[in-house]
Amino acid sequence: METYSMHTHTCNELRASNIGSEVTLTGWVWHRRDHGGLIFVDLRDREGLTQVCFDPDIADGVPFHTAEKVRPEWPIKVCGVVRHRPEGQTNTRLATGEVEVLASCIEVLNTSKTPAFQIEDDQELSEDLRLRYRYLDLRRPSMMGNLRLRSDFTFAIREALHKRAFMEVETPALFKSTPEGARDFIVPSRLQPGSFYALPQSPQLLKQLLMVGGVERYYQVAKCFRDEDLRADRQPEFTQVDIEMSFVEQDDVMGALEDVLKDAFAAVGVHMPTPLRRMSFEDAMNTYGTDKPDTRFGMELCDVTSVFANSSFKVFASAANTEGQAIKCINAKGAGTWSRGKIDKLSKVAASFGAKGLAWIAFRADGSVNSPIAKFFSEEEMEGVRAACGAEAGDLVLFAAGEQMLACQILGGMRVHMAKVLELPLEGHDFLWVVDFPLVHWDEDRKAYAAEHQPFTQPEEADIDRIESDPLSVGSHTYDFVMDGYEAGGGGMRVHDAELQMRILKLLGFTEETAREQFGFLLDALECGAPPMGGFALGLDRVCMLLAGCDSIRDVMAFPKTTNGNDLMSSAPAAVDERQLRDVSLRLL
Ligand code: AMO
Ligand code: AMP
Repeated sequence: METYSMHTHTCNELRASNIGSEVTLTGWVWHRRDHGGLIFVDLRDREGLTQVCFDPDIADGVPFHTAEKVRPEWPIKVCGVVRHRPEGQTNTRLATGEVEVLASCIEVLNTSKTPAFQIEDDQELSEDLRLRYRYLDLRRPSMMGNLRLRSDFTFAIREALHKRAFMEVETPALFKSTPEGARDFIVPSRLQPGSFYALPQSPQLLKQLLMVGGVERYYQVAKCFRDEDLRADRQPEFTQVDIEMSFVEQDDVMGALEDVLKDAFAAVGVHMPTPLRRMSFEDAMNTYGTDKPDTRFGMELCDVTSVFANSSFKVFASAANTEGQAIKCINAKGAGTWSRGKIDKLSKVAASFGAKGLAWIAFRADGSVNSPIAKFFSEEEMEGVRAACGAEAGDLVLFAAGEQMLACQILGGMRVHMAKVLELPLEGHDFLWVVDFPLVHWDEDRKAYAAEHQPFTQPEEADIDRIESDPLSVGSHTYDFVMDGYEAGGGGMRVHDAELQMRILKLLGFTEETAREQFGFLLDALECGAPPMGGFALGLDRVCMLLAGCDSIRDVMAFPKTTNGNDLMSSAPAAVDERQLRDVSLRLL
């Protein structure tokens, strides 16, 4: 490999075969140890570390005396001869552990203040401190490894797409609002006072227009901007690998995506078996209580509605006899021995998923049963529960009763919580498609229908007649890519018929006028020979987080923001001066 550098080798390159050669290395002083009249410096660059030895008898002691002065995190350049480490000094855990460089010269390239924290992986550091000094944080081998993994995966996916005739096309960041369900970041226009651009929540509309424009196979590693409340897997700006194809049917798109993803994962050493398993949205909700199930562990939801049709436990009897309601339960194996206090605390967790109460039965190891509600159960009901979820001594069964979807979601949340607390082993990665989402759901807050995926999704052909009469029963051509219990990507087929698009926009609460106002350019384009099309967007940050085994997407982003949306290094967002505001005709309230 060409080095294009001041050095001849990286700090992770020298092996026994290099013994005897003259080399030059550059990097940061990591650790310095003085002993036995010698100075040892661990020199670190982004690739790894090499031990450098300074001997007072070499070169009149000049390099030795300089080495006495160097401090951690000073960048230096050293030259010398590679030699075998003395007997007993080799380090088998280190790639360069058999050798060291006996320095004959050293050049101090810069000094460094004492860093705000030590550049080590295994230490408790507050994230605020890491973000404030991100450039130091990135020097830690684990962070550098994350950036490298992300680079390798992104390169591989680009290569896989390019190989399959996808064209990378850039789309503007200054554009018009694209509805992905979040709030827009807006940018005032100086040239047109009072007007604003919106930063794209995704290139959705633009990629559809590219299909109308004849691009046929498009991709882009695209920055997306969404002003929403942040979480560990959400940032205000994040990256999608955005993809769209035309003259295709749903299976063509899903097949292409599987091939591309398989290649990209293989490049980072992860086998994704194809064809991917497909699970319907309905099955996912009923069995796992979520549209992004982690299927690496069981604890599936069981339906015990019919068991309690005649129950004397009012909460359950009422749910069992009300249309649209259900009683579901999960069996958390091993939690049946928990103390009552510990089990009672689970109600709080369930409440965070929307539960009004959490009924439970603990099957104690001695065969007895502990439960605030079991006393209301008949022998048959108890047996019905046991049979439904295979409960035995040592198990804790948790129940949710009420509106069917809510009951599922509550237990879906409890299932993940219990798996974490019980430390269920999660081996390898879990990949699947969740398909067949409904076209819309009812948004109780806005008292309106809302798109389940987005407003441009192609409805199931057989259901199109019912768009106005029974919207909730309309299916759609949609697919989410689920990895390890995360929504790692999503997509679908698009409406390419202007009239149908208008009907859907009206269902979502637009009038002819407001739809034209916001999406006139799309509707016009659809009238100009739009081809059948479909696509997908992969959440690159989330996938890299899972590949790196991190808990937060911040760990695979070079310069992420805090959950308050701050950049702690530069102190963005920050005030701007009066003139800047005047230039864009704005005044602060
Ligand atoms: P969607 O909104 O599902 O679809 O986004 C696609 C994927 O992007 C990731 N993602 C995020 N990652 C980090 N921070 C965020 N705030 C964030 N929001 C979303 C998720 C998600 O699965 N235009 C459609 C795609 C299409 O239909 O082609 C879209 O944007 O992993
Ligand atoms: P209550 O009859 O309200 O005192 O509730 C008795 C038990 O049932 C308590 O343990 C509650 O937490 C639980 N509970 C109440 N409502 C529900 C519900 N909708 N689903 C599951 N458990 C519930």
